[in-house]
Amino acid sequence: MSAPTNIALIIGSLRTESINRKFAELMVAQMPESVVIEEVNLADLPIYNQDYDDKVIDSYERVRKQLKAADAVLIVTPEHNRTMPAALKNVIDIGSRPYKENVWAAKKVAVVTASPSTYGARDSGLDVRKSMQMLAAQMMISPEVYLGNAADSLDEDGNVSERTQKYLQRFVDAFVLFAGNDSE
Ligand code: FNR
Repeated sequence: MSAPTNIALIIGSLRTESINRKFAELMVAQMPESVVIEEVNLADLPIYNQDYDDKVIDSYERVRKQLKAADAVLIVTPEHNRTMPAALKNVIDIGSRPYKENVWAAKKVAVVTASPSTYGARDSGLDVRKSMQMLAAQMMISPEVYLGNAADSLDEDGNVSERTQKYLQRFVDAFVLFAGNDSE
């Protein structure tokens, strides 16, 4: 039997009713059984401070370990003030340090953004790509997914139309192929 593909899932929103979380859940449901998803919790992470580099912060150790172990990372995030939310930038910074212990190097990463507004939080996604380039991650280039008017796409039960489902499925299929465990 081939090894499962381990995906670390990062939701850039801390909000209970997050639309990004809802879209992430829809995409997770579309993934095959060979994929194991583990969410990286951002809520308890202290704001990164370089003074912590020589200290042991349990929550930092936890997320660095999760990110290191993952075959790929899927980031699903909103945009805050034309860029990525602080909680997401924080976990990116935590994973990037201490210097020379950057967990993002060569890591396969994909980003999906969603917003109730027209542009689908595109600037947030582009800024994630910019940071990942600096950190030498292996960024999934295509398809780019910026979900505009995303709140309107979800019904009361958090479901989407068949057309949106198919659109998400195309991304999910490409991501699972991209994430594929190379050690098989
Ligand atoms: C926002 N929102 C927002 N939306 C957007 O498309 N571009 C933006 O720059 C911003 N800026 C922004 C700043 C802050 C501080 C907040 C709280 C919100 C609106 C945002 O897209 C909306 O709240 C989404 O619902 C957030 O996603 P989640 O939390 O529902 O996943």
